[in-house]
Amino acid sequence: MPRIGDPAPAFTAPTTQGEINFPADYQGKWVILFSHPADFTPVCTTELMTFASMQQQFATYNTELVGLSVDGLYSHIAWLRTIKDKIAFRGLKDVEIAYPVIEDVSMEVAKKYGMIMPGEDSTKAVRAVFVVDPQGTIRAIIYYPLSLGRNFDELLRVVKALQTADHFGVATPADWRPGEPVILSAPGSAGTAEERMRGRMDKTHCEDWFFCTKELTAEEVESAIRTTSDAGL
Ligand code: BEZ
Repeated sequence: MPRIGDPAPAFTAPTTQGEINFPADYQGKWVILFSHPADFTPVCTTELMTFASMQQQFATYNTELVGLSVDGLYSHIAWLRTIKDKIAFRGLKDVEIAYPVIEDVSMEVAKKYGMIMPGEDSTKAVRAVFVVDPQGTIRAIIYYPLSLGRNFDELLRVVKALQTADHFGVATPADWRPGEPVILSAPGSAGTAEERMRGRMDKTHCEDWFFCTKELTAEEVESAIRTTSDAGL
């Protein structure tokens, strides 16, 4: 089972958008690789539609989407067509799923990524999310059970927080969103502990020697991590 910090296991697979070679095809991009339990099921339908509605927003942060289930390609294609033709959800309708959805009938990829959790279901993937960075390293893993649809604001927040951490060499506190103070994690990365404690470092504040924050405006964050300028703050 791959862990945070591991290289994303490599595979080739057929998808609704043609064959992919993962993660090689996505070098230089962030990717959200996610699994869903089954085609033609309602929670999964809401998730695929929500991902589709946010695809452009993720692209703004250089992030591509790749879905997977253990269903076959013809099932995927029929389901995606049904979603487009018939399903409305929370104001979304006529939704085209333009990101690739992997067929994994053999469960080879799902098993490689630890997406099958027999205690939950031995014939379906759980709702797994792997955030993979531009070097092909797994940076975050989130799992949800079959009954629970994912929180998509959180997925976008995770991407932005990881990119902010990389760009500014900081960490992000509980529930952080762009515009809120970040955490100076590595002593010496921005002045000594003493300099910080005495308030000598610009825009920093320390609660104690181990707990220092730094102001970073939403504009500073967004202009550092966005690759295009068409998503709202
Ligand atoms: C659903 O997506 O609705 C679902 C899929 C598998 C098991 C339970 C629910």
